[in-house]
Amino acid sequence: MELRRFTLCMALFVLAFAQCSESHSMHRRQAADDENYDFLGDEGTDDDTMNDTDGNAEPQVQMEPAKIETTPASYEVEVGGEVRLECKVTPERTVITWHRNNDPYFMGTLKMHPEEVRYSIADNSKDMVIRNAKVEDSGVFKCETIEKVPVAINHTLLVTQKPSIVNMTATNGGSVGEGTDLTLSCFVTASPVPTVIWSVTRKERPNERLTEKDAEFNVVGNQYTMRIKNVKSKDAGQYYCYAINKLGSDQSEASVVVNGKPQVHVPRTVVNSDLKIEAVLQCVAHEEARPHIRWYKDGVLIEDSETKYVISTEGSHSNLTVSPSADGDFGTFTCEAENDYGTHNRSIELVQSPVVEDVDIDGPRMTWTVHSHQPLEEMEVQLKATTDEGEWRTLSVPVPEGRHHKYDISYSLEDKQLPIGEYLAVVKVKNSKSWGGSNEPVTVNILFRENTGGAHSIRPVYSALTTILMYLLVRML
Ligand SMILES: *[C@@H]1O[C@H](CO)[C@@H](O)[C@H](O)[C@H]1NC(C)=O
Ligand SMILES: *[C@@H]1O[C@H](CO)[C@@H](O)[C@H](O)[C@H]1NC(C)=O
Ligand SMILES: *[C@@H]1O[C@H](CO)[C@@H](O)[C@H](O)[C@H]1NC(C)=O
Ligand SMILES: *[C@@H]1O[C@H](CO)[C@@H](O)[C@H](O)[C@H]1NC(C)=O
Ligand SMILES: *[C@@H]1O[C@H](CO)[C@@H](O)[C@H](O)[C@H]1NC(C)=O
Repeated sequence: MELRRFTLCMALFVLAFAQCSESHSMHRRQAADDENYDFLGDEGTDDDTMNDTDGNAEPQVQMEPAKIETTPASYEVEVGGEVRLECKVTPERTVITWHRNNDPYFMGTLKMHPEEVRYSIADNSKDMVIRNAKVEDSGVFKCETIEKVPVAINHTLLVTQKPSIVNMTATNGGSVGEGTDLTLSCFVTASPVPTVIWSVTRKERPNERLTEKDAEFNVVGNQYTMRIKNVKSKDAGQYYCYAINKLGSDQSEASVVVNGKPQVHVPRTVVNSDLKIEAVLQCVAHEEARPHIRWYKDGVLIEDSETKYVISTEGSHSNLTVSPSADGDFGTFTCEAENDYGTHNRSIELVQSPVVEDVDIDGPRMTWTVHSHQPLEEMEVQLKATTDEGEWRTLSVPVPEGRHHKYDISYSLEDKQLPIGEYLAVVKVKNSKSWGGSNEPVTVNILFRENTGGAHSIRPVYSALTTILMYLLVRML
């Protein structure tokens, strides 16, 4: 092919030169007789032949420079249509070439891309015709004369196409794990280049356009993508991609489901037990996609084979039974739930110190529960005014009689000479092993009470222990 093209170019060059040369009449005739030069499409016109026979006319031919009458233009045609790119040249016998983006397409009527059957030269003209236009045909088309000093014009062609979304895809078919990345892509064909916008209809929220705040947008060729990093369950919904250009628009949609990580709930994080006291830890994981539950002791996985522990799991509920036989058997126990989309864990401290729970205020009375298998030795309420930076004030609470493992305490704040105001209160308890206590202070309001002249508290903004979904049961053996 290359060789052929080269040969043709050489031939054209020789021919063009010959046309302008003194001795052109001889060459012309030879050329005209030679089938190889048929592509020039200008063989032996009557005028030529006549003038050729008349040697005196020759200088006139040489003097006449070719001129392109057509002015450069911008053509637009829709995909599948036909377009005729004009190139009117005088004198008519002038040979021209057509280039598309500097790639030769025609020399005279010779096709340089024979495989491109949609391109042709219109009869009795030098105009180039493109049938069944494709978007890829768009470009700069140059019509140029073959002469010592060539002249040329450039036309631009834009083949237009209404946007069409060929396909729309979503990460894993639109079923993604919470915290992962979601990528949606639309493969769009359109000309001119379309504007692509994205929107989403989320649960109980109408169609909202996605902006740079919500997602990352990208284009590679015809592939338009939108990426949301670290998806949340609220990102689930119906996603739309719209492609718009001056010819029209197209849209496509994909639904996205966000699968949650499992959640382990441990509202009570500290549990009291004692040597030879069996403790049953109960763990509850909430998730439709049933998680697999594992237990750890101080970060080390508890194997099913370990005789020290008994693990009983039913669905998303799991109990771990621990019987401490040494101080080292106390520590941090972690319940971990895992599904295809992630893991979540919560820990419980198994301790020998007292554990204080359910601290509450009712009128002037404070109530709480103490868990301790070890005998209690001391108990106190510590108060600190929230207004000033004053130090903690300690009120000693009598230790209840008898030995149990659970104590419900009720303590009145009346007649404790507390100035009116708001206080933070914590409960501290010491057993034979060590001190323990409530881990979050509660807020207590001390008000002046007219009928007794004393003070009392109102129900506090109680923020300590929340919903109890996981708890530890301590039983006597
Ligand atoms: C041939 O010669 C005549 C005059 O002799 C001239 O008018 C005509 O344009 C010439 N034709 C060509 C093709 O050069
Ligand atoms: C036509 O366009 C080509 C690039 O495609 C450029 O090189 C050339 O100079 C242009 N010619 C004219 C006459 O505008
Ligand atoms: C979407 O269509 C384009 C063009 O036909 C194709 O190249 C691409 O592979 C398609 N993508 C998918 C995911 O089917
Ligand atoms: C519990 O989860 C945290 C991350 O939230 C992780 O660093 C830790 O290793 C996990 N603990 C266990 C015992 O799996
Ligand atoms: C865990 O222990 C509690 C209380 O003993 C019991 O009601 C529950 O059925 C147990 N759950 C499992 C999964 O063993």
